[in-house]
Amino acid sequence: MATPLATSKDGTISAFASLPPTAVPTLPFFDTVIIGAGAAGLFCAGQAGQRGLKVLLIDHAQAVAEKIRISGGGRCNFTNRDLDPQAPHKHFVGQNPQFCRSALSRYTPADFIALVQKHGIPFHEKHKGQLFCDRSAEDLIAMLLAECTAGGVERWQPCSVKKIVFLASEAYGTGSGSYQIHTDRGLVQARSLVVATGGLSIPKIGATDFGYRIAQQFDVPLVERRPGLVPLTFDGEAWAPWAQLAGLALPVTISTGAKKSRMAFDEDLLFTHRGLSGPAVLQISSYWQEGTPLAIDLAPTVDLPAALAQAKARSRKLIANELAQLVPGRLADAWAGRDADWQRPINEATDKALTRLAEQMARWELTPTGTEGYKKAEVTLGGVDTRALSQQTMECKAQPGLYFIGEVVDVTGWLGGYNFQWA
Ligand code: FDA
Repeated sequence: MATPLATSKDGTISAFASLPPTAVPTLPFFDTVIIGAGAAGLFCAGQAGQRGLKVLLIDHAQAVAEKIRISGGGRCNFTNRDLDPQAPHKHFVGQNPQFCRSALSRYTPADFIALVQKHGIPFHEKHKGQLFCDRSAEDLIAMLLAECTAGGVERWQPCSVKKIVFLASEAYGTGSGSYQIHTDRGLVQARSLVVATGGLSIPKIGATDFGYRIAQQFDVPLVERRPGLVPLTFDGEAWAPWAQLAGLALPVTISTGAKKSRMAFDEDLLFTHRGLSGPAVLQISSYWQEGTPLAIDLAPTVDLPAALAQAKARSRKLIANELAQLVPGRLADAWAGRDADWQRPINEATDKALTRLAEQMARWELTPTGTEGYKKAEVTLGGVDTRALSQQTMECKAQPGLYFIGEVVDVTGWLGGYNFQWA
């Protein structure tokens, strides 16, 4: 039988181009090479290894899983009990949030919790179903590394990938082939290649666009990327009056969009020198479209019109002082300072002025000029277009043996442990 001819997808001439992959005598061969030893790559490596595959895990960083290490204030919010395995897409953003349904209903938070318990890691629940390690995120990293060891995973770190070449070969069936991965530790070959290089946020701990470049090399479409779960910024001059509130936090309802596309969150808002942050703003940032306004209810649990009317009937104090009984004092002062009608004793204020005050605090409309960018973003929105992937296996439909997993894919979770569950 004639040796099947191998061709590289990017046209690169390979020294082994005319040999079937298994016939290359000196080339280390793996069933799977995974690029990226973050949450997704480590988990995938452990699972694949324990199912009997020979796995190599490569990362260009010295340390594994830096994002796990810094997450959740060092305690890692590793999953969320509110994730509904029947409708997980409710907590995810992307062009097709339904894409995550298959994976997240087959591997649920309960499955991950069982793994954490198997490793004897103590944890606790905080706000809205969020689970955190009691001790440190290092517990989770140790767990994922132990799972890799149990699967006999080989790990190369730090190791840079220089080039990837696909060798089509009938040896693995029609349309199949293998991958040659050129690294600074040498050349390896694998039947499948898993890209788990994450998103663009926090470049100083190893984030790169490498996964997107691999997608482009293999003509896998990408959805435009932008920072998500990120503080929002405002025009400097316009923000100056609010900048003095930096450090102030309060519960709000925040929303963006209209009608069917409206999204709203009940969370804490934090004023900063350059704009707004806190869980409310991080959540809404993943839905906010540039140039559109946000609407913020600054006192969502208070019936402001009624409270102000009652105060008017019984008090001679300044409006700001009465308002300070309902919202934080610094906010009350700043807000009342915006209008001459609000800078007087409440019993002298007109009903119209108090109604306007209540209405405006219940619907503060403001349009951010931008975000704090990838330096502060927790995640990257967009990425590998889910239409190009199988939702059962994450394999590229048009490129056999190539898989994309974790944050590099256009699936982004809400704040609260959803992103690690996805990874
Ligand atoms: P991840 O980014 O974890 O891993 C990618 C790996 O690929 C890295 O190890 C990187 O070094 C490597 N890599 C990149 N380019 C490479 C290249 N060219 N060659 C080789 N290797 C390369 N989520 C959550 O659910 N709960 C939480 O508490 C938090 N908290 C949080 C805090 C902060 C500050 C941030 C920035 C993010 C979070 N997140 C989070 C989000 C969460 O960290 C993120 O969604 C996951 O880490 C994504 O996992 P991945 O494995 O896909 O990418």
